[in-house]
Amino acid sequence: MQFNDENRQQIFASLQYFFEKFHQQLDTSAVASKQTQLPDMPLSAHPRTLSALNKIIEEQLSEHVSGSNGPRYWGFVTGGANPIATYADWLVTTYNQNLSKGGDSIASSFERQAINWLLELFSLPAQFSGLFTTGATSANLLGALVARQFAGSQQGIDIAKQGMFALDVQVFSACPHASMIKSLGLAGFGQNTWQPVACLADSEAMDVEALREALLNSNAKSKIVLASAATVTGTDYDDLMRISELCKTHNAWLHVDAAFGVFERLVSGPNGKTKGLERADSITLDCHKWLNVPYDCGVFLTRHHALLKQTCHVGAPYLVQGEEFDDYMSLGIENSRRFRAFPAWCTLFAYGKSGIREAIESNIAQAKALAKWLDSSPYYTLLKPCELNVVVFAPSVKHPLSSSSECLRAINNSGEVFVTPGLWQGQATMRAAFSNWTTQMKDVERSVTVLEDICK
Ligand SMILES: Cc1ncc(COP(=O)(O)O)c(C=O)c1O
Repeated sequence: MQFNDENRQQIFASLQYFFEKFHQQLDTSAVASKQTQLPDMPLSAHPRTLSALNKIIEEQLSEHVSGSNGPRYWGFVTGGANPIATYADWLVTTYNQNLSKGGDSIASSFERQAINWLLELFSLPAQFSGLFTTGATSANLLGALVARQFAGSQQGIDIAKQGMFALDVQVFSACPHASMIKSLGLAGFGQNTWQPVACLADSEAMDVEALREALLNSNAKSKIVLASAATVTGTDYDDLMRISELCKTHNAWLHVDAAFGVFERLVSGPNGKTKGLERADSITLDCHKWLNVPYDCGVFLTRHHALLKQTCHVGAPYLVQGEEFDDYMSLGIENSRRFRAFPAWCTLFAYGKSGIREAIESNIAQAKALAKWLDSSPYYTLLKPCELNVVVFAPSVKHPLSSSSECLRAINNSGEVFVTPGLWQGQATMRAAFSNWTTQMKDVERSVTVLEDICK
């Protein structure tokens, strides 16, 4: 195969073939593939044909991918790629725009509009601005980096230029996501230096009184609070109203990881569990979770645009500066950037507020249905009431498989459903997270059959 256009029709036909095949197999193939290693192959010395490539895709790839894009993959917090976003993503690759700077394409304008629509969707104030990131991890990293810049500005240090050697700062958090801790390491705070704040009893939510004490007792010149909305296992929400008040009193930066928890705002409005999110200095969202757009698509928002720009500014003679708006390459981590905003833009355009809310409500209803069944089963223990989309459970003493890990293996080996492990109040658990738009109640019923069968 040479780099030319002759194959275009064949490529399109191949895409259609694999697309349809994948969607047919989602219902019948194992949710988790048992084959995960590609056999060694020599690098091609010469061009190969499209049919040679398709043979490899057919035999080595399409048969062995996971069903993570389907209805019964309940591991982590995994969204599917909705049909409109899938189509949009194909166009993203077709157009292959580089959203590093403005001035030569309308694409950046779609990104700005998508951010504005997300603010509207989540009832967040227009003072926030932001950008699409590769995921929630990179949004959390931006949160750590901009918070660091803010702390520097309080101490007369431009961290982006001078580094953080002289910075006197303390970071507080109760139950940060692992990616937030990783981000602290990447941002130079260190993964182990944050001060743990106690959680409320039987919850992963921050004890705000403990935070009050910790802030009062801290001698650090600058303070950063990392809050969660929601935590990845317990789906617990920190009390953002009270925390934001404390942050105001102590001139502390408040970053909220609301990767998937923000979607609760579509169900309960801005005065539900996320009340106070609008007061944060920066926020992480994740569209490749509950907005059901393809990887990779997170969002970073901040109400301190100037600090973000100081943090990420890039200057080089060959980089044409944009025009009316700030260049995205000076607002984020990467210079060259995929048009990842487009699948999110199209999703917001096509499904609208009510369409997106309905998908969220269905997932919550499915999670609650599974939780209800587990709670009534003598073989399982529901470890906490299900309040959102994650079900946390373990085998009860009556279960023939005594440990969560054995039970998890049996469930996943069924090929019918896939769940991932978690830790709840120090106890090993299983987590089933509902965030795929294709999941239906019949998938819950199908999985209940598996849960019953492994008890026999
Ligand atoms: C609360 C929270 N924050 C951050 C992340 C990391 O997200 P990503 O995998 O998109 O980087 C996750 C992933 O599950 C999450 O649940």
